[in-house]
Amino acid sequence: MASTKKMVILIGINSFIFLLVTWLLRDQSNQMEIPVDQNRPPEERAQPTITPVLNSKHFMVSAFKDHRQSGAVRVISILCREELKKKLYCAFCANATAEGSVGPCTSSEAWFDIHRNNFPYATASVMCPSPSSPGATHVSITNDPNNIHNLKFLPIQNQEAKNSYKYNFIWCISNIFGKSNNALQFVQTMELYRIMGVQRVVIYNTSCGPDIEKAFKYYQKEGILEVVPWPIDKFLKPSGSWRPDYSPGEIHYYGQVTTLNDCIYRYMYESKYLVLNDLDEFIMPYKHASLGDLMGFLQERYSDAAIFRFWNYVYPNTQSDDSGRYPLPQWKNVPGVSILEHIYREPENADSPISAKLIVDPRRVEQTIVHQTQKQFGRTIEVPTDIGHLMHIRHPKEKNFSKDQLTKDKRLWDFETKLISRTNQALFKSGLL
Ligand SMILES: *[C@@H]1O[C@H](CO)[C@@H](O)[C@H](O)[C@H]1NC(C)=O
Ligand SMILES: *[C@@H]1O[C@H](CO)[C@@H](O)[C@H](O)[C@H]1NC(C)=O
Ligand SMILES: *[C@@H]1O[C@H](CO)[C@@H](O)[C@H](O)[C@H]1NC(C)=O
Repeated sequence: MASTKKMVILIGINSFIFLLVTWLLRDQSNQMEIPVDQNRPPEERAQPTITPVLNSKHFMVSAFKDHRQSGAVRVISILCREELKKKLYCAFCANATAEGSVGPCTSSEAWFDIHRNNFPYATASVMCPSPSSPGATHVSITNDPNNIHNLKFLPIQNQEAKNSYKYNFIWCISNIFGKSNNALQFVQTMELYRIMGVQRVVIYNTSCGPDIEKAFKYYQKEGILEVVPWPIDKFLKPSGSWRPDYSPGEIHYYGQVTTLNDCIYRYMYESKYLVLNDLDEFIMPYKHASLGDLMGFLQERYSDAAIFRFWNYVYPNTQSDDSGRYPLPQWKNVPGVSILEHIYREPENADSPISAKLIVDPRRVEQTIVHQTQKQFGRTIEVPTDIGHLMHIRHPKEKNFSKDQLTKDKRLWDFETKLISRTNQALFKSGLL
């Protein structure tokens, strides 16, 4: 009975939100205001989505003014390699909508920088020289500069460079896809990061399982999590790997490089630092109690550094602590891995010699890939592993080490009291307990 009531209320709320959104959208398109996206909190911004480029196989994702490059506009895009020989142009318009331009437009030739890999589609920055008309609010890319009024336009974000930021740490999770339902590990990692000073999280969502979805909804309601729709599978056949021979497809790992770069620009002026790692990983400080203290220490030691690489250590989820202290009985029906149990780590580099994840000053990153940045305006530091490293708790991939070949590492247990009580609370409020 109670749940029927809840359903009715929920449906009521949903209809209200739908009407509200419809009304807001109508209102905007009628008044034709210049969008001031960069002045709004990110949760109210137009969601980036995947926009096919007219008469071509390319896609646009999002557009940002790049203040470090004389105000050129960067369109984060997914380009089809077989069409790269055709010239690309940018069309700038004032007061455009997604449906076409309304105000005056200009066009100019673009250049691009494409991620090198062996897939037929790849992430690229399409660079548009700074628009000659200062009122340009929207941009589109095209092969045909003489026919631009019917294009779909993206709002140009980051119109103003800021030098104070709302947050200290935002965690960008590049993507979730398939029926991934690792709810317990997600909630524990969220709570651990919140204890350590992460204030906001963004995840790009292709699809997910039902239990993790409940956790997403809870954190969205709390205003901590932004779930960005990422329907890459509606446009391309995504690979589930970084190599086409491991998992065939048209684009590298569900577009991970695209979403990471989108996240950098989307939050460039929102947060002092961005933490770039996946859902089954976290960056653990070993000599500090929070990421704030850790970064204060590192930034003092390496004052010119902008990119901090944390080495990856795998903690196989097949090896558990024998003391019997975990798992906790109340979590046994929650799908997913409990990180507190898996305190044995593989030797360094057992996984891959290049594997690391990043904390960056986004204003000093131009382009990133998964384990390092590719173009930046500052020094990259390899953080000593005794100061901090990545804990990657997952199924062993390369080798199945026996317990005596692994190192016991109880650092996570320093956070256990807070972590357990916060996890219980979040699971309860998500409807998972
Ligand atoms: C855009 O729309 C605003 C508000 O209607 C108007 O004041 C402005 O002149 C327009 N800009 C251009 C370049 O058409
Ligand atoms: C994630 O994406 C899937 C597929 O579009 C959707 O069904 C689900 O509701 C999304 N989850 C959230 C929290 O937005
Ligand atoms: C890995 O090793 C553990 C114990 O050392 C064993 O229980 C497990 O079956 C092994 N898994 C595989 C896939 O070899």
